[in-house]
Amino acid sequence: MKLESDLYKLIPNALPMNLRISVWQELLTKDYNIGWEDIQGVEAPFSKSAYLAHVARREEPRDRFGKNRFEPFEELGIPSEFCQEYHDIMGDKQIDYLAVNLVFQGQQFWPHTHRRQTSLVYYANLEWHNKWGGETIIYEDDGETFHAAVPYTPGALLWVAPGATHAIRSPSVEAPMYRFTIGMFYD
Ligand SMILES: [Fe+2]
Repeated sequence: MKLESDLYKLIPNALPMNLRISVWQELLTKDYNIGWEDIQGVEAPFSKSAYLAHVARREEPRDRFGKNRFEPFEELGIPSEFCQEYHDIMGDKQIDYLAVNLVFQGQQFWPHTHRRQTSLVYYANLEWHNKWGGETIIYEDDGETFHAAVPYTPGALLWVAPGATHAIRSPSVEAPMYRFTIGMFYD
């Protein structure tokens, strides 16, 4: 795998194992409208599967219990407990919002870009095997030539350059679990 690239950087072992487990457990407590959808796009009435995500914004208002959806992630060490390399790259940039993405077999995702935003992906599943699929595809700037297929790497972070085109590959029929990631977006 090509690691030196202007378009992406894979940072393995970005979170210690004890924290990975807590993050994983936290993700499993969230609500996902499996079989329905969390966000309705224009294609929703014509699609058999839909985009499933739990979105949390830093600045979102508190509920009547004084909580918002972002704090549980901060309490679990996101991003404070990420490895030094993360902090070297991101400095004191703050997460604007994050999205837990749940992906299952047979879904197909469009190549897309977050035009001016730096984004990072945290691979939350504790175990993953090559034959389970689920790579992240990074494209050349033409948006259709493959630059890299980054394997799903538990505990790793994937830095995606602002404007770099990418797409999610769904898990294969071999995968016994949903594919969870946390996408983090910065101001
Ligand atoms: Fe994306």
